[in-house]
Amino acid sequence: MIKKAVIPAAGLGTRFLPATKSMPKEMLPIIDKPIIQYVVEEAIASGIEDIIIITGRGKRAIEDYFDTSPELENHLLQNEKYKLLREVKDISSLADIHYIRQKEPKGLGDAVLKAEKHVGDEPFAVLLGDDIVKGNVPCIGQLMNLFEKYNKSIIAVEEVPKEKVSSYGMIKGREIAESTYLVEDIIEKPSLEEAPSNIGTVGRYVLVPEIFDGIKETSPGKGNEIQLTDAIKMLMEKGEVYAYAFSGERYDAGDKLGYVKAIIDFALEREDLRGEIERYLQEIVAVLPQNFKIK
Ligand code: UTP
Repeated sequence: MIKKAVIPAAGLGTRFLPATKSMPKEMLPIIDKPIIQYVVEEAIASGIEDIIIITGRGKRAIEDYFDTSPELENHLLQNEKYKLLREVKDISSLADIHYIRQKEPKGLGDAVLKAEKHVGDEPFAVLLGDDIVKGNVPCIGQLMNLFEKYNKSIIAVEEVPKEKVSSYGMIKGREIAESTYLVEDIIEKPSLEEAPSNIGTVGRYVLVPEIFDGIKETSPGKGNEIQLTDAIKMLMEKGEVYAYAFSGERYDAGDKLGYVKAIIDFALEREDLRGEIERYLQEIVAVLPQNFKIK
């Protein structure tokens, strides 16, 4: 059974500058809840009991967020704001969270390697701190279920539109069961010509501990970063790696467009906001020119 999850959140978030100059991108709110809370909640809903967040310089806000806040709690209590008080208290008791610092953002592979001592010799989950997946069954839980069957590393994948191929790890896979692929190749951020298919990785993985040796042997790749994708490729030389086309809606909330889409979709699901937002969207659509077409 997988009980530990690693959440890398030490990246610089350059796609979100200048906001991320002094604020972790994982703390950007989807309405009133930071992105990383959705990720932590997904892990907990999947049965994870021990969470390791990889942080770095300028990421203190993440630790403060999941900590208790006596002054704020006291203030809410004094003002009889009991519902908010409950919400604030619940956040600090969500899970057993540990923090490990990545001294320099040398890449996702390097960030995962920082968790080696804490994870030990057991399979573990990885959830990227800026990817949100909405769905009835938590995405990482779907991979964890499949792990029970195969006992090998599993990567979440989905079809990627052409213009996004060069932003993701892309796989070549042989479909061996419904939505399940045996990975035959994986390339980090390929050009459209290099891409082995239109199936790309999403920020959810179940990995066997041998990945740590793979990362140690991996030299910096794309963007001069130690890529998890390259270490997974090494893992493939020693054993099978699977990919799973999960069910659910994924938002790359570390990307501006993905972030805005997430806010709209989550707002439309909230009782307190749906009506007004729908009205507002209708107003916007009504003023679009008659001949407006989606490009
Ligand atoms: P991204 O590549 O999306 O994050 O990594 P980034 O580097 O912060 O973003 P941009 O491209 O500059 O805008 C995916 C996840 O891995 C973490 C990030 O924090 C993010 O949650 N990461 C990335 C690390 O923890 N360490 C790194 O060295 C790189």
